[in-house]
Amino acid sequence: MFNNFRPREGETVYLQVHDFLKQMIRTAALQPHDKLPSTREMVGRLGVSRNTIIAAYNQLELEGLIYSIQGKGSFVQEAAGPSVAAWEMNWNSRINDYAGVAEEMDPLKHGVRPERGMIAFSSIAPDEKLFDLNNFKRAFLDRVSIEGEVVLNYGYAQGYQPLIDYLRGYMESKGTDMFGKDILITNGFTEGLDLLLSSFRKRSGRILCENPTHHSALRLFRMHGFEVRGVAMEPDGLDLEQLEAALAEQAYDLAYLIPSYHNPTGIVMSPDKRVEALRLFGRYGVPVVEDGFSEELRYSGAHVAPLIATGGAGNGVAYIGSFSKILFPGIRVGWLAADRELIDALESVKRARSIHTSTLDQSLLYQYLHNGYFDKYLKKARQVYKSRYEAAVHACREHIPFVRLSGDGGLHLFVELDPAVDTEILLDQCYEQGVVFTPGETFYTDGGGRHTMRLGFSRLTEEQIERGISVIGRTIRTWEPANE
Ligand SMILES: Cc1ncc(COP(=O)(O)O)c(C=O)c1O
Repeated sequence: MFNNFRPREGETVYLQVHDFLKQMIRTAALQPHDKLPSTREMVGRLGVSRNTIIAAYNQLELEGLIYSIQGKGSFVQEAAGPSVAAWEMNWNSRINDYAGVAEEMDPLKHGVRPERGMIAFSSIAPDEKLFDLNNFKRAFLDRVSIEGEVVLNYGYAQGYQPLIDYLRGYMESKGTDMFGKDILITNGFTEGLDLLLSSFRKRSGRILCENPTHHSALRLFRMHGFEVRGVAMEPDGLDLEQLEAALAEQAYDLAYLIPSYHNPTGIVMSPDKRVEALRLFGRYGVPVVEDGFSEELRYSGAHVAPLIATGGAGNGVAYIGSFSKILFPGIRVGWLAADRELIDALESVKRARSIHTSTLDQSLLYQYLHNGYFDKYLKKARQVYKSRYEAAVHACREHIPFVRLSGDGGLHLFVELDPAVDTEILLDQCYEQGVVFTPGETFYTDGGGRHTMRLGFSRLTEEQIERGISVIGRTIRTWEPANE
């Protein structure tokens, strides 16, 4: 029975013995509760060392294929249950529309991906070279020594209390009246929006937003089955006439707005428009979800208060903040500041869906903020991004024959070209020359924007910015006549 074991050269022998015996158990050559020869006996049968047999038996036991009884030997384990014939599933046919839309609108699967060495204006992620790793490590050690093992246990769905308290104060420092409002910690902005959309009763099934708008928000609206109505942007924010007409024409479940350093246009909505827009939303009873993702990245001009602050004691605005652009996106911490009853409901949704955001990440972030490192980091990051921003504006003015250039701060600029220029085609041509950017169409609610593009400059040096934008400009100038 054991005679046909033939060890192969160059392969670990005990694993070969293990595989050989496992195969005998699988094919029922060895039956449940059969006694295996003793290790000493097996040495003679297989012609290998006793240690090899012991190691193979140990491995089989670890896998639950055999068991041993002291003084009696090793025995074959009863199979866990009857085995079934393998079958093939068509998983694609089981995927619903929710996942289908996520796949269809996944920019990393369908967009152009830069190759190594290319100048990529497609990213608006922070430049990790600016991250102060030493202070991050200090914050980690400080927090872990204060909290001990408890940071590794389950935490609370609403979030880590010291961080909640910190963010409450932070929102107040932005001018927000937090009376009757509360904070929920989320896995970045994206989870905050997803929680809200999952919890909203669909009355009209319609969402109103700026056109263009943040691609990830558009994708979530569509995944959740909302119809999206976009309102055009002017250089100082929403076109209020269009907004009023849209509000008068139809009902909306909510409005989603990015009033500061809007993605993709980079526009900051003027204080007057903020007041007027809120007046309109109030009149039509439409709640506003405000995305404040990079409002700290101001390089010039006066600070403009967020909508939630402009709304005073009212509770019509739910603010979603994020540390992804102003600090580290990898820790995936964001927050929702909104009416207490809404936060209370969302806390339960969060508990049901993901239990809570990593306590380790939250507590470490809290310590980093508490130690005063955030202000120092922000000061340094603003300086570097401001120079890159100025280099990008200068290079666009120098090289790109744009119709409109926008971007009042933040990490990107938005360029509108002559409508004859198709930025998808332009991208292909620039790709050949080692430069990529994001064609604007992906941000539009209505399939428009084929002549627009977003230029993210956060991870590029000033030299790369100048070189890359000059390539784009040169390509537009030579490409236009060819398409006339
Ligand atoms: C408009 C907008 N909001 C929020 C975010 C940040 O999302 P998260 O916090 O999920 O990383 C981004 C990131 O690019 C963004 O463009």
